[in-house]
Amino acid sequence: MNTDEVKSLDSKYLFQNYGRQNLCFERGEAEFLYDLDGKKYIDLVAGIAVNALGYAHPDLVNAICEQSRKLMHVSNLYLVKEQALAAEALASVCPDPISKTLFVNSGAEANEAALKLAVKHTNRSRIVTAKNSFHGRTAASLSATGQPKYQNGFTPLLSHAFEYIEYGNVEELKKTVNSETAAVLMEPIQGEGGVIPAGKEFFKAARDICDDYGALFIVDEVQTGMGRTGKWFGFENYDVVPDIFTLAKALGGGFPIGACVTSPEIAETLKPGMHGTTFGGNPMGCTLVKTVIDVMKRDKLVERSSDAGSKWMADLKKASSSEVRGFGMMLGMVIEDGRGLQAAALERNILVNVCGGGVVRLIPPLITSDESLSSFTKVVEDFF
Ligand SMILES: Cc1ncc(COP(=O)(O)O)c(C=O)c1O
Repeated sequence: MNTDEVKSLDSKYLFQNYGRQNLCFERGEAEFLYDLDGKKYIDLVAGIAVNALGYAHPDLVNAICEQSRKLMHVSNLYLVKEQALAAEALASVCPDPISKTLFVNSGAEANEAALKLAVKHTNRSRIVTAKNSFHGRTAASLSATGQPKYQNGFTPLLSHAFEYIEYGNVEELKKTVNSETAAVLMEPIQGEGGVIPAGKEFFKAARDICDDYGALFIVDEVQTGMGRTGKWFGFENYDVVPDIFTLAKALGGGFPIGACVTSPEIAETLKPGMHGTTFGGNPMGCTLVKTVIDVMKRDKLVERSSDAGSKWMADLKKASSSEVRGFGMMLGMVIEDGRGLQAAALERNILVNVCGGGVVRLIPPLITSDESLSSFTKVVEDFF
């Protein structure tokens, strides 16, 4: 089958709700993708920050084969060994007092769970989020998303419950949070919005303001979690511990799984029957969560993200004389012609993504070699 044939089936049988590039991949290995004609690409997108261990990682492949022979799905009506082991592994990399996990299937679902938990725990209903944020596409997560372009045509959603402040604006946050606020929900770096870091001062202020009013501080780590920013979680760049945080994307190394993580005290709020999902925490996904964490520890991938990311950032700044922002392996190049740079990279078989504000977003697998990172730096040098 060739790309045109796939395209024709796509237009005939699939919802046309994605603006897809005319590329179709057959397989991947490490940070490389191969299209239907066998052409090789360096992938600096990683399935939008999902494939942190790259493609066909041997540990993940083995874990999938072994687990699929045993159990892929079993109901949450029963104890699930792999779920307990994955939660234990996750707790081992979480700061105190965070040690309890609810597994779900996606980032949006993780945020839904976090919001329901905060409302129930505080017995309040108002949520403060940021303009230009992105938290998902389900009713509550889309209500939390402070971007009209995603909400238009679907309002009022749950708009009565949400208030949006300017991201990073401490004064606005102070004015908006009050004794009716259940939670403040923020990304540590706005990803879809344009790779915009919140900043330490803002995160520390958010923590304090939440404490002052008895509101919960929820951090959306769906894109920034699992080593992406050079720390296990993005909030660690700001020396702040949230009450609840959410994960998905890289959590399963490419297998769809999400999580809502919190302290034992807050987790206690949800009693049997109050929340749940059929597929959430299935043995396959959970085995992969544990494998991802084990491999990341063994191969020191969080350190790799930090070290290689800082060096790459310095090289890209030098090559472009432009603003490059972010942490670790989550970088955004703020340039006028983002689409032009994306096209120049594609000409050399390198995939990059353009996100909010035309920013070129670089979110490669954490295992990406220095050589592949430098290949893109060379594209940048030639482009400027
Ligand atoms: C910060 C953030 N939160 C939530 C989501 C939604 O995750 P999902 O697409 O898995 O529902 C995304 C997806 O891009 C995201 O970047």
